[in-house]
Amino acid sequence: VEQSYIMIKPDGVQRGLVGEIISRFEKKGFLLKGLKLFQCSKDLAQEHYKDLKDKPFFPTLIDYITSGPVVCMAWEGDGVVASARKLIGATNPLQAEPGTIRGDLAVQTGRNVVHGSDSPVNGKREIDLWFKEGELCQWESVQTPWLVE
Ligand code: GTP
Ligand code: MG
Repeated sequence: VEQSYIMIKPDGVQRGLVGEIISRFEKKGFLLKGLKLFQCSKDLAQEHYKDLKDKPFFPTLIDYITSGPVVCMAWEGDGVVASARKLIGATNPLQAEPGTIRGDLAVQTGRNVVHGSDSPVNGKREIDLWFKEGELCQWESVQTPWLVE
């Protein structure tokens, strides 16, 4: 089944948006498989964002992501990767549509409160990177028959 790695960035945690952001994914109907508050190392942040390592903003991005605790989440469901990106909104919060997380809750690309995997392959890669074996739960939600026919 498709999984996406969703992460509330340090600004989202500091601004008290954890409940609000988790709630958007919960209400949509995806299944939460893993969840933790976590202070990440520079090495882990650099590995996570390795595709951006040549960008001029890479050092500030790593400082940002390691500046405080983040909330790591694994969400599951058909189409979860693309749908989560839509719920999150455009990278630049000023261009993100109202109704999206970034559109409603943020103003700057460098403080855009949440991360979402950009492909199912990266969803798996990032969940393997951020979660250890045993940190994900295998469970079934009682809502499932009311969400999918
Ligand atoms: P993520 O879900 O966090 O991966 O964001 P994204 O997929 O919408 O954007 P992308 O992967 O291209 O960039 C990753 C993150 O780097 C962004 O979410 C921003 O936090 C940061 N970033 C991207 N572009 C810029 C930029 O031009 N300036 C700054 N300061 N940060 C940037
Ligand atoms: Mg990205």
